[in-house]
Amino acid sequence: MAFPTDRPRRLRRTAGLRALARETRLLPGDLIYPAFVREGIDVPVPIASMPHQQQETLESLTAAVDDAVAAGCAAVILFGIPVAKDAHGSQAWAEDGVVQRALRSLRRRFGDETVLIADCCLDEYTDHGHCGVLGDDGSVDNDATIELYGRIATSQAAAGADIIAPSGMMDGQVGAIRRALDANGFQHTAVLSYSAKYASVMYGPFREAADCAPQSGDRRSYQMDVANQREAVRRTVLDVQEGADMVMVKPALTALDVVARVRDATDVPVAAYCVSGEYAMLHAAAAAGAFDERAAVLEALTAIRRAGADLVITYDARRAARWLREEDDRV
Ligand code: PBG
Repeated sequence: MAFPTDRPRRLRRTAGLRALARETRLLPGDLIYPAFVREGIDVPVPIASMPHQQQETLESLTAAVDDAVAAGCAAVILFGIPVAKDAHGSQAWAEDGVVQRALRSLRRRFGDETVLIADCCLDEYTDHGHCGVLGDDGSVDNDATIELYGRIATSQAAAGADIIAPSGMMDGQVGAIRRALDANGFQHTAVLSYSAKYASVMYGPFREAADCAPQSGDRRSYQMDVANQREAVRRTVLDVQEGADMVMVKPALTALDVVARVRDATDVPVAAYCVSGEYAMLHAAAAAGAFDERAAVLEALTAIRRAGADLVITYDARRAARWLREEDDRV
C-alpha cells in the first residue's frame, strides 16, 4: 500500500479543484459598509487614520451609498456626527437630527433597493462622550440610558431605518428598544445587537472619525473585558431572549474565537465588525510594503466568514465587493 493514502493536496492542485473544495465563500452580499454623516460641513472631510474613508455631507453620503449598492454590498450602517452635543445627547433622537435626515433622504432615493442600518448609541451626541447618560456619581446610568435608546430607535425607525443596531452595551438595551419600537407601531423594524462588544483599543480611529472619545474615564464599565469569552456567549443569548433578530461580535480579527462560539450558541444571523483599528492596521502594513493590500483584506474578511460570521461590517466593503467580482481563485 502506498503511503500516505490520504492526500489532501489532490484537491489543491488546480484553481478549479480549490474552488470546488472551498468551505467558505466571501461574497459582496456578505459585506456591510459603515458610513459617517456629519452635520454642518459643506465638503467631505477625510479621516486621517483611515485611508479612503471620510466624513460625508448629506450629498456625498448619497454618492457613497450609490457606490455601495452598485458594488453589491448587503447594507450600509450609519453613524451621525451632530454640530451640537449636550449631556443627554438629545440630537440622537431629534426628528431633524443628522442621521434622521440622512435616513429619510436615502430611503426616498433607494426605496427597498438597499438595507439601511442605524447605529443606536449616544457617544457621538453627548458632550462627555460616553455611550449613556451620567448619574450623580459620574457613572453611566444604565436604566436612564436604555429609555433614551428606545427614543433614538423609534426616531430612526420613523425616518426609515430597516434595522436598529444598539452599540452601547447597556444591560436590557435590546428589550427596551424592542418595547419602544412595538409600542410606536414599528413591529417590523429589526434589531441587530452589538452583543459581544469588547472594550478594545481597536476603536481608536473611529473615535477620531465620529468625534466621540470619552472626555474622562473609559468604557470598561459597560464594554466587555477582552479576557472574557464565556461572557460573550451569555450576553448574546440574553440579547436573543430580549428579542434581538441578529447579533454582532466586535472587534472581529481579535475575536475570531468569540465569533465561532457565538455562531454555535445561536441560530440568528451573526455579524462581525472588522473595526477601525483593524482597518488601520491592515492598510498601514500594506502601505509600508509588508504585503499586498487587496490580498490581505480578502484573506482577513474570508477568515472572519470562516470563523462563523454570516455578515462582515467593514470599511473595505465597497472596494472588497469590487475585488471579489474580479477574483476567481482567492486565498
Ligand atoms: C459606539 C461605537 C463605537 C464603534 C462603533 N460604535 C466606538 C466605541 O465604542 O468606542 C467603533 C467602530 C470602529 O472602531 O470601527 N457608538
